Amino acid sequence: MKIISVNDIQKLIKIIGLKAFFDRLITAVESDFSRWGAFHKSVRHATYYAQGAIELMPCADDRFYAFKYVNGHPGNPAQGKLSVVSIGQLSDTATGYPLLLSEMTLLTAFRTAATGALAAKYLARQDAQSLAIIGTGAEAEFHVMGFSTLFPLQEIRYFDIDTAAMAKFSRNMAPYAFELIPCTSIREAVHNTDMVITATAAKKPQILFELQDIAPGTHIHAMGGDCPGKTELSRVLLEAAKIVVEYTPQALKEGEVQQCDASDIYAELWELVTNRKQGRENAAEITVFDSIGFALEDFATLRLVYELAIEHQIGSEIALLPEPHDAKDLFSVLLLTS
Ligand SMILES: NC(=O)c1ccc[n+]([C@@H]2O[C@H](COP(=O)([O-])OP(=O)(O)OC[C@H]3O[C@@H](n4cnc5c(N)ncnc54)[C@H](O)[C@@H]3O)[C@@H](O)[C@H]2O)c1
Repeated sequence: MKIISVNDIQKLIKIIGLKAFFDRLITAVESDFSRWGAFHKSVRHATYYAQGAIELMPCADDRFYAFKYVNGHPGNPAQGKLSVVSIGQLSDTATGYPLLLSEMTLLTAFRTAATGALAAKYLARQDAQSLAIIGTGAEAEFHVMGFSTLFPLQEIRYFDIDTAAMAKFSRNMAPYAFELIPCTSIREAVHNTDMVITATAAKKPQILFELQDIAPGTHIHAMGGDCPGKTELSRVLLEAAKIVVEYTPQALKEGEVQQCDASDIYAELWELVTNRKQGRENAAEITVFDSIGFALEDFATLRLVYELAIEHQIGSEIALLPEPHDAKDLFSVLLLTS
C-alpha cells in the first residue's frame, strides 16, 4: 500500500510544476463530474463540536472507493495549528484492498481551488482579469494559482481582518506576475472586481458584503461557509444570484443555501459540465458557486495522485496490510514477527 506524505506532494509539485498539476487536477475533477451518474454519492458524515467540525467524506465508482477525513476548526490558528487538516484513502473495489493513503491537507487546498476554477469556467466572464479574495489564510494562494490556470488574472485585491495573514499572502504571491492590491476593507476589495473568493473561517453566520458592493457580472466563489450556522453571504445577495452547488442535499445543510429553499438553486456543477444547463448567460449576471467541498472532488484528486505516484515513483510502500503466506492464516503474522 502506497503512503503519500507531505514531502511526497512537495516532490510531485517540483517534478510536474504547480501550473501543470493544476491543469491535470482541473481536468480530472471535470472528467469525474461529467460521469456523475457513475458514482455512489452521499452527504458527508459530520460531527459538530463547539470548536469546529470533523467530517468523513466517501465517494466511489465501480473501480475505486475513496474517503477523506477532514476537520474545520476556525480557532486553531490562534494555537499555531491549521484550521483544516485532512487524510484520504483510495481503495480497489474489486478486492476492497486500500491502494493509497495520502496526506490531504495540501490536496484539499488544491482540489478546492481546482473545483472553484472549474465552476468559474462556466460561471465567470471568460475575460475575467481581476480577483478579490476575502480571507488570506491557508487556502488563499492555492486559489489564486488555481484560478490563474484558467483565467488571465492580472489584478489580485485582498483583505483579511488579520494583517499578518495579509502580509504572508503578499510575500507568497510576490514572485508571481500579479498586481497585488492590499485593501483596508472588504468593500474596497470587492469593488469592481470580476471574481470574488470568500475564504474566511468563522463559526457563525456572517455577511461579508452586500449586493450593492459588487459590480454587475461578478462571479463569487463562496467557499468559507461550509457547515450549519457558518455562512458568508446574505440571503438578499443569494436571491439576486444564479446559484450553483456541488451536491444539493449537502449544500442545503451546510452551504450558503442553508438560508434558502431548494428552488433557489439553479444547478449542480455536473449539469454545467455536461452542458445540460448553461452557466453564465449574460455579462451582467451575478453568479455564485456555493462550494462546501464534495467527496467526488477528493475521489478525483486521489485517483490522479495515485496515477502520478506510480508514474513518477513517489511515495513509500508501508506494510499497513498483513500478507500471510496462507490467506486464512492471519494468526501466523503474529508468530512471524515475534
Ligand atoms: N469549500 C471547501 O471545499 C473548503 C475547503 C477547505 C476549506 N474550506 C473553508 O474555507 C475557510 C478558509 O479555510 P482556511 O484553511 O484558509 O482557514 P484559515 O483559518 O487559514 O484562514 C481564514 C482566514 O479568514 C480570516 N477571516 C475570518 N473572518 C474574516 C472576516 N470577517 N473578514 C476577513 N477575513 C476574515 C482569518 O483571519 C483567517 O486569516 C474555512 O472556513 C474552511 O472551513 C472550505
